[in-house]
Amino acid sequence: MKKLSVLLLTVLFVLGAGFSALGQGVLKVATEAGFMPFEYVDAESGELMGFDMDLIRAIGEVLGLEVQIDNISWDGLIPALLNGNYDCLIAGITITPERQGAVDFSEPYFESVLTVVANTGTEISGLEGLAGKTAAVQINTTGDFTASDLADAGELKGVARFDTVADAMQAVLIGVADIVLIDLPVAEAYLAANPQAPLEHAGPVADNEFYGIAVNKNNKALLEQINAALAELKASGTYDQIFQKWFGAN
Ligand code: ARG
Repeated sequence: MKKLSVLLLTVLFVLGAGFSALGQGVLKVATEAGFMPFEYVDAESGELMGFDMDLIRAIGEVLGLEVQIDNISWDGLIPALLNGNYDCLIAGITITPERQGAVDFSEPYFESVLTVVANTGTEISGLEGLAGKTAAVQINTTGDFTASDLADAGELKGVARFDTVADAMQAVLIGVADIVLIDLPVAEAYLAANPQAPLEHAGPVADNEFYGIAVNKNNKALLEQINAALAELKASGTYDQIFQKWFGAN
């Protein structure tokens, strides 16, 4: 009996390792946790929290993989994935044709849109009347791409690029920039978490965009596993539960 169960365990173990694209049973994930409510460091516990964090942990659970998440710099995410340091990235990353040249994306898991954040009372509304203004953005985000296009078209004076969203917001607060171009749910969470900041948002201001989980182009097996797990989480209602937890309604 004992021998049989040892044999069974061995068979299960070997099968499990074979089915997992990752062998070790670990899903190595990188994020940039300055993007509340998608990913942030909880002030009390120091834990990584947010919609994306819950989603990737749920995906790991479906796949039977232990999820290990590192918080690294935004601009370092895709290079770190391409270096093979991580299996995937989840960081509110918008699926764009340019990025699709470098990495694969899962099926879209969240629909978002850009907005403009400005000092209260500046009468800035949307993308109109920004000529002569400076936009602060997180470098190499869709906010940066849109602001850069506006600046090229002469509809914006300039773009100030920062490593983090917090620094971009700070630039407007201290008056070195006039607006921040940023994902709407993040603007809303920032304003809710910083009620004393004299900022408001005017938007949405661009076309909708979709977030995806980024996977190395040479790892189609993992891409398929992640897509299958996402589909299962949607079918089981778990995705909706996570959505409700962070956004209230679906
Ligand atoms: N959705 C935007 C983009 O992909 C911003 C994402 C920023 N994410 C972050 N974790 N800071 O460009």
